[in-house]
Amino acid sequence: MSNIKTVIAGNWKMNKTLPDVEHFLDHLQPTEWPDDKEVIIGCPFPMLHFLAKKVDQLNLPITVAAQNCHQESSGAYTGEVSADMLSSVGASMVILGHSERRQYFGETDEIIHQKIQASLEAGLKVIYCCGEKKEEREKGEYLDVVLNQIDVALKGFDSWDRLMIAYEPVWAIGTGLVASPEQAEEMHAAIRQNISHEGSQIPILYGGSMKPANAAELLNKENVNGGLIGGASLDPESFQLLIQA
Ligand code: PGA
Repeated sequence: MSNIKTVIAGNWKMNKTLPDVEHFLDHLQPTEWPDDKEVIIGCPFPMLHFLAKKVDQLNLPITVAAQNCHQESSGAYTGEVSADMLSSVGASMVILGHSERRQYFGETDEIIHQKIQASLEAGLKVIYCCGEKKEEREKGEYLDVVLNQIDVALKGFDSWDRLMIAYEPVWAIGTGLVASPEQAEEMHAAIRQNISHEGSQIPILYGGSMKPANAAELLNKENVNGGLIGGASLDPESFQLLIQA
């Protein structure tokens, strides 16, 4: 049994307006949350400050995370947001390298590496996402693909107490297809073995169609230390069930 705390991280993606966030918080029942879970919410930029303030006011055991940042600390990058800005509005964490950022916004592991550096410099913690595409799994290349992503993005990395890795097979994200507990464990164990010895205690989360009905069997695996959850994190009741799974 590992002594790594189980992490339930919601990734709201491009969902929820300000009233939706308020409604969500009003319908959580944090007094029923087990102490051995760490709860994170990955919130869209405009609502971060509001969420961080509410979490503080209501003393909620929630870590507020952003879903992206720019690699530069400031400058002429219209429409972009720096890690310092995130930290100044109350975020303490950022999700980086999500496959939707890779697919729709051309992010590579080189860029993600720079974003990780910028986030650490701004005092943020990082959830780094990796995962193979369907055809890479079918060709049997999935372990090499993911371990290579990690090697590039985490080159020279040594801030292990500020990192979580989320393994998110692209074929399982938002598709209803979920990796089997054995598939997840195979990858998580390989990731843990591949990272430096000092990183051996970092939480490795699974992401891809995790929901209350399948969470417990995934979380039961030795190296699956939590979930990064999209669709099933949007509804407060479902999120609550995941925290209690
Ligand atoms: P999903 O998304 O739970 O909706 O599959 C997971 C993610 O993209 O982080």
